[in-house]
Amino acid sequence: MKKLAILASGSGSNAEKIMEYFQNSTKAQVKLVASNKADAYVLERAGKFHVPTLVFNKAQLESGELTAELKKMEIDWVILAGFLLKIPADLTRAFPDQIVNIHPALLPKYGGKGMYGMNVHRAVKAAAEQETGITIHLVNENYDEGKIIFQAATPVSEEDSPERIAEKVHELEHRFFPEVIASLL
Ligand code: GAR
Repeated sequence: MKKLAILASGSGSNAEKIMEYFQNSTKAQVKLVASNKADAYVLERAGKFHVPTLVFNKAQLESGELTAELKKMEIDWVILAGFLLKIPADLTRAFPDQIVNIHPALLPKYGGKGMYGMNVHRAVKAAAEQETGITIHLVNENYDEGKIIFQAATPVSEEDSPERIAEKVHELEHRFFPEVIASLL
């Protein structure tokens, strides 16, 4: 049985799909939802699934305290589901090729610093892209540059607002992220 930890900073709709997917699995269990925001809605979602939660600050992430906690819990895979802080090198070293991120665009487009959440969808709209999508990738020290595991695209039409683009991207994320994680374990 693989042990998963989810790191998330916000609403946690992806985290919820993952907890739902693995709740009766014999392959993996979500053992922890950790957030850098004490008021993140993801913590309430974890409660619904009786998954333990942890709140940490940037200093605890950067000092290696979070890494030590994940190791102590014998976590096998770290899943970033809307986690907005940079992952420090000690964490990538402690979990080589075992940290997975979801990015709401077709990397290498719309990746890098400042490209998260609605910023990505606004940039896609401003560039009048005809498609966007999701990228699921392993995390190395250079944030959005780890090995790509999976991508899926969705068309963008002229009438689509950034909010509508976000909805389309969330649909893809919810459909594919849990399955792709399962395929990695
Ligand atoms: C998701 O769309 C995810 O791809 C994005 O944040 C959203 C979180 O939604 N992640 C990034 O932008 C990371 N660069 P959720 O909290 O409802 O799962």
